[in-house]
Amino acid sequence: MVKIKIDGIEHQVDEKKNLIDAVKEVNVNIPYFCYHPSLSIVGMCRMCLIEIEGVPKVQAACNTPIKEGLSIITKSKRVIEAREGTMEFLLANHPLDCPVCDKAGECDLQDNAFSAGKGVSRFEFQKRNIPQEEIGDNLMINHNRCIVCFRCVRFEEELVGEANLGLFQRGYHSIIGLANEKTIKHNYQGALSDICPTGALLNHKTLFKSRVWWYKTADSICHGCSTGCNTQTNVRDNKMFRYMTRENPEQKMYFLCDKGRFDVNWLNENRLFAYYEKGLPSESSKVVPQILEKIKSAKKIAVIGGASESNENLGLIMDEGNKLGKQIQYEARVLPPQYEPTKQVDFLLTADEHPNTKGATDVGFVLNGIDSIVKDFNSGEIDLLFILKEDIPKNLNGKGLIVVLHTNITTSVKDADFAVPIKSFAEQSGTFTNKNGVKQKFEMAMVPLQGLPSSGDFFKRLSLEISLKLEAAVGNN
Ligand code: SF4
Ligand code: SF4
Ligand code: FES
Repeated sequence: MVKIKIDGIEHQVDEKKNLIDAVKEVNVNIPYFCYHPSLSIVGMCRMCLIEIEGVPKVQAACNTPIKEGLSIITKSKRVIEAREGTMEFLLANHPLDCPVCDKAGECDLQDNAFSAGKGVSRFEFQKRNIPQEEIGDNLMINHNRCIVCFRCVRFEEELVGEANLGLFQRGYHSIIGLANEKTIKHNYQGALSDICPTGALLNHKTLFKSRVWWYKTADSICHGCSTGCNTQTNVRDNKMFRYMTRENPEQKMYFLCDKGRFDVNWLNENRLFAYYEKGLPSESSKVVPQILEKIKSAKKIAVIGGASESNENLGLIMDEGNKLGKQIQYEARVLPPQYEPTKQVDFLLTADEHPNTKGATDVGFVLNGIDSIVKDFNSGEIDLLFILKEDIPKNLNGKGLIVVLHTNITTSVKDADFAVPIKSFAEQSGTFTNKNGVKQKFEMAMVPLQGLPSSGDFFKRLSLEISLKLEAAVGNN
């Protein structure tokens, strides 16, 4: 930490941070567009202008190193005029079409225009008008809204490792476009739209679905892989519309991949809300007693899966499962990437499509592996198998009973002897432990159907009913 002066007042700030972020921590706001903590500094937008004592001209804050004794001015008339000038230039050719722009309500250009702009334009000429273009499977560019901040180009080159976009022409004619004939195909088209500080880059998947201020939000964790990116959920009418990035500088989390970002349909559609018996909808009053009967007569029970369940549910399943009075084997690892050290698919996404393999194995959902369970089920040694939100293993052919707990109607739900509906992670709060062993909280984002149990609740019900039956049996004697 070093001492610097901001508007004449001394503050302690972290000299390892960029000046913009360092002063934010002491509640001083410097507006910006092109700066991003994960990208190289280019100083292109000139929005972050400040005065530095002893330096004659206004300077870009994003490009100013922090050192002991630095004295900056962020609120002088000169700074205000400089920022107003920048905003006026940036908006000269902007169509000012916020009412029909998908970014409205979460747009840095809008926010900075309100907080640091002049509110009027002196630009009287015909505005530049370039037709929008499809530049990716799920990405389009509205050139008229682009402020040439270069974030998109830097993000692709520096983090994704591709160079699909480039800046062409100069001055008034500057335009962001595809660097070659091919459109963008990579897993970060949502992130490109997200880091664009204006409505220039937009995704088709979320286009015109809702105005952003209608969403209810909750802090959550992505469910798509073991990286555990921090998200903010956007829910409207109890439907998950989208995930947005929730920045976590401590963990260096600033982005989401498309696989995780757009994976919302399973929360809204094809949900399992009824108990199933032999592929047909049934009722808990019919299904649960049959499962209880089987527990009583079972030789050995196995519980497989669970790497999509929260640590809290898994803990409850183990505690309650151990009260059933039977030998139980727990195994969360059902797919090869769960057995191996983390394999990165790209800079964020991992090959393990489960958010909580690490948490599940930490809780104790790990023993001899899925192959030994399949072998024992086929030989009859295990005769009751609970499957937590996974497919029934292909090579399973034993005569035992299979109970699938799931959030959605899948083939396994229909193929199982019984299926039990459970809450999705978005309908409860809890924690997932990511590939690095960081335990991260997620909040309830959607209201669950009344009476829908979590996987942990279901095991609690089983152990409770078993113990009640045992007590009743003792009473009868
Ligand atoms: S498209 Fe967006 S991110 Fe790219 S340069 Fe333009 S404003 Fe910046
Ligand atoms: S990298 Fe993994 S955790 Fe992050 S957004 Fe993609 S799927 Fe979700
Ligand atoms: S944020 Fe400093 S010049 Fe753009």
